[in-house]
Amino acid sequence: MNISYAPLPVERRQTPPATVDTFGEIRTDHMFVADYRGGAWHDPRIVPYSPFSLAPGAACLHYGQTLFEGAKAFKHTDGEVYIWRFDENMKRLNHSASILMMPEVPEDLQLEGLMRLIDLERDWCPGKPESSLYIRPFMFATQDMLGVKPSKTYIFCIMLSPSGPYYAGGFNEAITLLITEKYHRAVSGGTGTSKAAGNYAASLRPAKHAVDAGADQVLYLDASNTYLEEVGTMNHFHVLDDGTFVIPRFDDSVLRSITSVSVLELAGQGRFKARQEKIPLKDFIADIKSGRIIEAGGFGTAAVVSPVNRYLLEDGSSLTVGDGKIGRHSRALYELYSGMQTGLVPAPEGWLRKVPRFKAD
Ligand SMILES: Cc1ncc(COP(=O)(O)O)c(C=O)c1O
Repeated sequence: MNISYAPLPVERRQTPPATVDTFGEIRTDHMFVADYRGGAWHDPRIVPYSPFSLAPGAACLHYGQTLFEGAKAFKHTDGEVYIWRFDENMKRLNHSASILMMPEVPEDLQLEGLMRLIDLERDWCPGKPESSLYIRPFMFATQDMLGVKPSKTYIFCIMLSPSGPYYAGGFNEAITLLITEKYHRAVSGGTGTSKAAGNYAASLRPAKHAVDAGADQVLYLDASNTYLEEVGTMNHFHVLDDGTFVIPRFDDSVLRSITSVSVLELAGQGRFKARQEKIPLKDFIADIKSGRIIEAGGFGTAAVVSPVNRYLLEDGSSLTVGDGKIGRHSRALYELYSGMQTGLVPAPEGWLRKVPRFKAD
């Protein structure tokens, strides 16, 4: 594939910061872009990070045909940059595309675009603990049309954001979740397994409801308010008193978290115990009260492992998990997972890919 660079030579417009402690606020100098028209992808290119030109009638602005992904790259002690499980993100992007009636983005286009972009921006990848180069691939519909039908044209783009932890306190600060019966993220047969941008627009009101109630985020239930599903920005887990991690089953209203899948794969290699099951809310509450559940939290690319020490219920009552402190099982898993990402602990074959040093074309 022939990816063009503009401008040449590379224009460094900003100085990459030495440390980053915010999430998602900084942009690097360049982005990768490709256009879809006439049933094919055209003109893959790396250009300065700059606004798009979009018709006011562009379908993404009216009917929400927009999706995104989230992945990370890490600088290891050898000075090289490695991307983490991006193959899984590429597959999930195309799964989301199929749900939103958008075209598939070939994996070689996604991967080569990303590798060349990161190669160019490698100075922006922070090497400090709890920081990374956050990768944001996204696609949106550009056809100027009114009428609800799939667009015929799209833009695929990858932008990069050097970032610190998603929650300001990182792993060391446990958060509170509101278990909401008032709002639902997704229903069976809906768009819940995709990273449709609209899912996140719909999550803003529940998130505000949680903050108003004194929590950091919501834990969603299924539409019948019977089973646990997931958190607004991550999958959910709890740890039983025998050390087993339990993750709600991936029904068709739950995002298939790459972090959760990785945890289950690591457990399959015998490193610790983890399983998925349908988790009735009433059992979850009873098990926290009885002390059978000793730790809880969320899994996600941005959040990594985020401990949860308190749940609020819609009736105003609250539950504290275990002794309210961050538990040793969550800590051990966080250290193992982030150790693999940053190269301090060996990761399974294929989970890290080194960004090549391309020669200028
Ligand atoms: C709703 C939701 N669930 C779960 C996750 C975690 O998924 P992953 O581990 O692939 O980042 C995310 C973040 O991407 C999310 O937005």
